[in-house]
Amino acid sequence: MLIDTSRTANLDKTMPYLIDKIEVSPSSGNYDILIGSNWLQDSASALASKILMDNVLIITNPVVGDLYAESLIKGLRQIGCSHIIRHDIPDGEHSKNINEYNRAQEALALNFPDPASVPVVIALGGGVVGDISGFVAGTFRRGITCIQVPTTLLACVDSSVGGKTGINFANIKNLLGVFHQPQMVVIDLATLHTLEKRQLCSGMAEVVKYGVVCNRQLFEFVEAHTEALLDIDPNAMAKVVGDCCRIKASVVREDERDTGGRRIVLNFGHTLGHAIESASDYRLLHGEAIAIGMLAATDLAIALNLCDKEVKLRIEKLLRKLQLPVEINGRDLQIESIMKTMRHDKKFSSGENKFVLPTKLGTWQTAQGIAESLIHKILSAYL
Ligand code: NAD
Ligand code: GLY
Repeated sequence: MLIDTSRTANLDKTMPYLIDKIEVSPSSGNYDILIGSNWLQDSASALASKILMDNVLIITNPVVGDLYAESLIKGLRQIGCSHIIRHDIPDGEHSKNINEYNRAQEALALNFPDPASVPVVIALGGGVVGDISGFVAGTFRRGITCIQVPTTLLACVDSSVGGKTGINFANIKNLLGVFHQPQMVVIDLATLHTLEKRQLCSGMAEVVKYGVVCNRQLFEFVEAHTEALLDIDPNAMAKVVGDCCRIKASVVREDERDTGGRRIVLNFGHTLGHAIESASDYRLLHGEAIAIGMLAATDLAIALNLCDKEVKLRIEKLLRKLQLPVEINGRDLQIESIMKTMRHDKKFSSGENKFVLPTKLGTWQTAQGIAESLIHKILSAYL
């Protein structure tokens, strides 16, 4: 495996598998994102400083757990953990629900009843496992340590970092949740090799999001290295995952709780994207819905004279190259159901919508109170 060793030059020599290390420093406390490859078992040595007791609940699902739990458990045993329980939630977005939340809390309560030996939760999986595990850890005994071990591209570049946790409720995405920062994020890029191509592409949508609104160079890197990224070339992937995590870390440092007008940038494409994802009953993957949401938001920016048409053409071309959908067409979605779901978006304040819109590649602004008739007109072009 070819890894750019210059990136590892200053890294801890006791962790030879490490490719990159990023510090996240929100006001609630610092933690590291450690990026390595083929190091799931060895990564436990990095976790040793966080797992002071020997009690661990690994929350995963049958797909990821069967692939990777054994290596992780071996590593945990090597650092002295003896009481390790694996708890599976069913695969898929529908598991981000209150019943699975209850089941995971029961697993904690029944397996670790002693308040003097509080367990650590390790989330091993994609964003679904990560979001529910973070919520479980954030609310068990008013908050216990959570370590995120993301295994999808989407979770590596976005959901495992920043402490947003939660479940879907009353058919509304992420309605219940808490902010609960992980104590560490451990990324093993080699796990991406077992991901389905469609899931890899879905994760690339979040990478494009960072590029469009936060970092033009990243966007251009993805344009220039699309094939390499889809082939999971280790150097290209390490660079992209590292860059995205750096962007996310800097946004979270400035605006941990999404109240300061900065973190909202990460919702580019999500106001309509979440609504499309829910209205499709999750037949569209998160990143797929966000791809369409980004295009529709860019249309809004163009209609409001905030952005040139060329920006949209470039985003659309890149999304197509990344095998992401650029229309909803054929998926049997009703525009009214998307509009209705959109009104539940948390970016609505006092009944007014609020969108993150690109201005040029790498820059953005918000627009509030956009006429529903314009949103409706733009959305209908995607149906
Ligand atoms: P996911 O968790 O459903 O994983 C996608 C699929 O890949 C699943 O079938 C899973 O079993 C499988 N999988 C995972 N890792 C694998 C591997 N290494 N090899 C083989 N298969 C593997 O989906 P996702 O795209 O990772 O996450 C989407 C979720 O993340 C959504 O619920 C979304 O709302 C949430 N999200 C949260 C945040 C946040 O800040 N908390 C940000 C973005 C998205
Ligand atoms: N994924 C959006 C956020 O973390 O704020």
